[in-house]
Amino acid sequence: MAQDDKKPSGPDLAQGIPASDLADGAMLMGHVGEDEVLLVRRAGKVSAIAAHCTHYHGPLADGLVVGNTIRCPWHHACFDLTTGEALAAPALSPLTCWQVEERAGKIVVGGKIEPPGPQKTGSPAERVVIIGGGAAGFDAAEMLRRRGYAGNVIMLSLDDAAPVDRPNLSKDYLAGSAPEDWVPLRGDDWYADNKIDLRLKTEVSAIDPKTKELTLGDGGKMKFDKLLLATGAEPIRLDIPGARQIHVHTLRSLADSRAIIAAAKSAKRVVVIGASFIGLEAAAALRARDIEVHVVAPEQRPLERVFGSQFGDFIRALHVEHGVKFHLENSVTAIGAKNVTLKSGATLDADLVVIGVGVKPRLALAEKAGLKVDRGVSVNEYLETSAPGIYAAGDIARWPDPHSGERIRVEHWVVAERQGQIAALNMMGVKMRYRAVPFFWSQHYDVPINYVGHAEKWDVIEIDGDVMKRDCVVRYKLAGKVLAVASIYRDGDSLKVAAAMEKQAG
Ligand SMILES: Cc1cc2nc3c(=O)[nH]c(=O)nc-3n(C[C@H](O)[C@H](O)[C@H](O)COP(=O)(O)OP(=O)(O)OC[C@H]3O[C@@H](n4cnc5c(N)ncnc54)[C@H](O)[C@@H]3O)c2cc1C
Ligand code: FES
Repeated sequence: MAQDDKKPSGPDLAQGIPASDLADGAMLMGHVGEDEVLLVRRAGKVSAIAAHCTHYHGPLADGLVVGNTIRCPWHHACFDLTTGEALAAPALSPLTCWQVEERAGKIVVGGKIEPPGPQKTGSPAERVVIIGGGAAGFDAAEMLRRRGYAGNVIMLSLDDAAPVDRPNLSKDYLAGSAPEDWVPLRGDDWYADNKIDLRLKTEVSAIDPKTKELTLGDGGKMKFDKLLLATGAEPIRLDIPGARQIHVHTLRSLADSRAIIAAAKSAKRVVVIGASFIGLEAAAALRARDIEVHVVAPEQRPLERVFGSQFGDFIRALHVEHGVKFHLENSVTAIGAKNVTLKSGATLDADLVVIGVGVKPRLALAEKAGLKVDRGVSVNEYLETSAPGIYAAGDIARWPDPHSGERIRVEHWVVAERQGQIAALNMMGVKMRYRAVPFFWSQHYDVPINYVGHAEKWDVIEIDGDVMKRDCVVRYKLAGKVLAVASIYRDGDSLKVAAAMEKQAG
């Protein structure tokens, strides 16, 4: 996420370069003043765009051009090459674009292009209510305003903080290497500036799909024209003695992450219960704070169910290399004030305990409202639930995935954001199918893992490269079809797989 303050490299594009230096389909890095600019030529047309992604500053020169878009190598954000618009999350802000001219055998870059404001659409009397101030809820509100929605937008969130970059809470922020001002998705002023009525610490307790009315936790009522349900998931709590003590934490919200950071200041030894993504990312982050970390989990290998055995061995070895001690094929049966008891009978000292044993989707509202629910809120390809005008997105939504041919529900940041974006367009009447290829990333120390597609089971795992050497593409196949691909330091391959899956599904 760090911004480098090196002098921009490459040719001065304001002075121009020979047109022959930029072949069709090629990219070239240069600069205009202090700004690093990337030239991209596709189908004869040249674009001049900011060289770094607006999400975490990923190098777009290592990205992939697909049609009139460029995809970021790190977390697959997708930008329009003509307008710079961040068409698909996790980036939200547009890329700066420059005027560019090709004449007399030269390509010359001119001034920055001012993006045109959105055209107003929809009636100012209409009201969209979003339940949830997380990934899906925030991205929906942002997209409504970005595309000029003129109606009222109300976002109701149980959280006590405005929407945050949740993935950061178990990574750089928890490790102490990201300052707190990196965490909010937008500053407080943004909501007022964009006329988004964000109401924090506000619970919705019931939805009446017939009258299009909500009941709030305090008994208040609120009408809606369109509704987005984006209530996400909550950490599973363990029903074991001692699980409710003050030094026992789960990790979902900014408040949770802050509480763990505060406890970590004086803690000497943490026991992480569960070798889940959150558990292991928290383990890595707490190692960066120089705390002794023990992970207790029932499986033989961490994350084997998602990635297979070789990858599981790699993840264990990576954490062991950083000093994590595993207690696998074991579980915690009780938590004391200063230790935990394991099923094996052993005890481990612990002055901090983090439980990362998975999450459960928050479905109660949908169930109570009589919406169709099937291990998630059932939605169609437009992300609309069984009740017209009520949409669902993110961790709670089970949708028809055109890539796997199954109805799936996943718990990924980028999926939740993109679903929020598409739901917003549909609430505005655009009628757009949700067809994005599922994608997630996870970070352990300096090792990023990218995953494209969705494989709940497979019959063959094909490994190209070497997992242990942190240079691999791992394909998960079922009956000859590649369902998903995990990769380490093979960003180009990961992007190509996503583009190919996107094309296959039409
Ligand atoms: C610490 C952490 C790290 C993660 N890292 C990654 C990662 O690296 N990569 C990845 O792909 N995924 C990651 N995830 C998962 C990712 O964050 C989730 O998939 C994503 O946040 C889901 O978005 P959502 O909008 O569905 O739900 P959430 O972001 O959980 O938002 C749900 C919102 O609904 C509100 N809400 C719930 N019930 C009510 C109610 N009744 N009334 C009002 N408001 C309500 C909540 O307060 C919250 O604001 C991580 C998750 C966590 C917790
Ligand atoms: S840095 Fe580009 S998508 Fe994250």
